[in-house]
Amino acid sequence: MPAFTATAPGKIILLGEHAVVYGQPALAVPVRKVRARAVVRAEIGQKAETIHLLAPEIDLDTTYDTLEPGNPLRLAIAVVLDELGISRTPACSIRIQSTIPMASGLGSSAAVSVAVIRALSGFLGHPLSREKVSALAFEVEKIHHGTPSGIDNTVVTFDKPVFFSKDDDLQILSIGKSFTFVIGDTGIPSATAHTVASVRKAYHAEQQRYEDLFSSIGSLVLKAQDAIQEGKSEVLGLLMDENHVFLKEMGVSIPELDQLVGTAKKTGALGAKLSGGGGGGNMIALVNPNQADMVANSLEKAGAAQTIITHIEPS
Ligand code: PMV
Repeated sequence: MPAFTATAPGKIILLGEHAVVYGQPALAVPVRKVRARAVVRAEIGQKAETIHLLAPEIDLDTTYDTLEPGNPLRLAIAVVLDELGISRTPACSIRIQSTIPMASGLGSSAAVSVAVIRALSGFLGHPLSREKVSALAFEVEKIHHGTPSGIDNTVVTFDKPVFFSKDDDLQILSIGKSFTFVIGDTGIPSATAHTVASVRKAYHAEQQRYEDLFSSIGSLVLKAQDAIQEGKSEVLGLLMDENHVFLKEMGVSIPELDQLVGTAKKTGALGAKLSGGGGGGNMIALVNPNQADMVANSLEKAGAAQTIITHIEPS
């Protein structure tokens, strides 16, 4: 049995996080400079059903059957075996590597799940469709996020900019011209499940206020979809700024994110906001291409643990 390798990119949410969990649309794009990769190989001489898991970056060297039932890697393997109706696997190893920072809103968990699901199903001789891979990764996301919208597994599986609404069919985002973004990482890990749960609690306490916030964000997303399609950077920047204000009102920003957002704006970014769950993790700034290095340097000087410059290109 030949070795089978699969990869999946990171992702960033441009607008609409949190509101998307409540049925509003959101925009997300792949970040291809960072990737998760899974390689599945036959292990000669091991007894059947032994799945050896290796992830050197997180000091993981174990077997499938010894992982806790709630472990996301265990679930990523289990959903594939269940989907394919396989009860006795050939002895194999799954080696996982990722350059996507963890717990920071860059889709690390979804990308690892997608890479493992693809590599294992391919190794077992039954590569799955993108729709199926995304649906299985969504099951794993529930462990990470509690009540995920499905945006992470979707953008990471399809590796395309998306206009996503959890109750509608996937729409690929149409892009009028190239846009450049700088991503700045606070270096503060934040579990998305935690911020999603805190928003849910606040929503139950103040339902009308949160419904208004979610629908205001949904309106920004629709305008941003048009701005991206028409290639209007200034408009998109202003919409990102407004989205950040709503996220602050929702209670998911922290001073470190606000500070990086302020730094990006002072350095000339057209717009900036936190991206993903918040409570730490990443912010994103829209910049003119010739300003990208300058904004990235300013963010690093202001304390960003890491910056990534990324682009979306016309489709
Ligand atoms: O995985 P993150 O941190 O990028 O957050 C995902 C976006 C949320 O809207 C906060 C949650 C969800 O499932 O859509």
